[in-house]
Amino acid sequence: MTDKKTVALAFSGGLDTTVCVPLLEEEYDYDEVIGVTVDVGQPAEEFDEAEETAEALDLDHYVVDAKDAFAQQCLDAVKANATYQGYPLGTALARPVIAEAILDVAVENDCDAVAHGCTGKGNDQLRFEAVWRDSDLEVIAPVRELGLTREWEMEYADEKDLPVEGGNEGDWSIDTNLWSRSVEGADLEDPGYVPPEDIYEWTDAPGQKTTEDGEFETIEITFEDGYPVAIDGEEMPEVQLIEYLNDLAGSYGVGRTDMMEDRMLGLKVRENYEHPAATTLLNAHEALEGLVLTEEERAFKKQVDQQWAEKAYEGLLSAPLVDALDGFVDTTQQKVTGTVTVKFEGGQARPVARESDYAVYSESAASFNTESVDGIAQADATGVAKYHGFQSRLANEVAANAEAKKAELLTDGSGDESSEEN
Ligand code: ARG
Repeated sequence: MTDKKTVALAFSGGLDTTVCVPLLEEEYDYDEVIGVTVDVGQPAEEFDEAEETAEALDLDHYVVDAKDAFAQQCLDAVKANATYQGYPLGTALARPVIAEAILDVAVENDCDAVAHGCTGKGNDQLRFEAVWRDSDLEVIAPVRELGLTREWEMEYADEKDLPVEGGNEGDWSIDTNLWSRSVEGADLEDPGYVPPEDIYEWTDAPGQKTTEDGEFETIEITFEDGYPVAIDGEEMPEVQLIEYLNDLAGSYGVGRTDMMEDRMLGLKVRENYEHPAATTLLNAHEALEGLVLTEEERAFKKQVDQQWAEKAYEGLLSAPLVDALDGFVDTTQQKVTGTVTVKFEGGQARPVARESDYAVYSESAASFNTESVDGIAQADATGVAKYHGFQSRLANEVAANAEAKKAELLTDGSGDESSEEN
């Protein structure tokens, strides 16, 4: 074997990763760069772009299909109702999957290093490197390490005659995968800027579409152990189920988020997302949990879910904490089996009916219509009603008495003191 130094680069064919190719040779002395594009459900044009750019750069280029692994990861996130500040974590969940796939290619090709084109301001550098630094390979981040700006990259690309004109970017910086489409940058960086309708590609303007008879459409989602398995009774593999819901719910304008996101480095950044399937599945799943979990399971699970989502945002789902959280999540999900009917209306995916063999529900006990035999008899509740809030009433009364006593002492005492002092 030669002592040729090789680096595997996360490659999209966009400006950042394109300038990284010559820079890894010039600035980091690598003899060979391998480009790796990982398929987590980006649109076909992005692969064409990556392919064309790689060819023009004469770059050894690999495309790895990780759609199934990623789809499973997304549906695992549904079990934990995972969102971060309202964002269903599409980019965050994808990064470790992409990083793993690149590492596999790097190891297979005896690479000495792995590299990404992330800037030093975002979250993705942290998510990639958390995976890569668990290996013996060197980790290189040219854009961050050389302090590159977009302007500099553009000039450099021009100078070197690099193939960057196509560019998927246009005005915005876009990150698309099965679970979400994220749009950021340019005018959108200003939190006070109202985004034009054309930043959206997955969602039509909400509130427009109805079915032919002017109705809003409903669908039935079947869950098994917290995992969505069928739509309107038809079983679908994960990737297909997510794609189907993105199309359908997106046509009703479901799943737009416009938010201020607190990044890991402490920056607040304005982000826009589209995630029709994620919103639909998360809403349906939570509705089913509402039927089958006890009140205290639901309350505790909120805390578990919150922790899970934070680790997902950080790209740290491999943390031991998450194994422990998964233990709780999976135990609760054994009962999350059933169907939820979701209605698409006004840009929402609203659960309107739910059914499960595990329903913690007794119609005769809860009904207004009958005096129940197996549940609460109305008269029995009198004692409960009498003492409901007892402690608070007592505490308020005690506090009022104590205040009155203090006021009394003050008027008595202050009279004496003031006369003495004056
Ligand atoms: N801020 C989001 C995250 O950290 C998504 C960033 C997506 N990137 C983009 N270029 N649009 O998960």
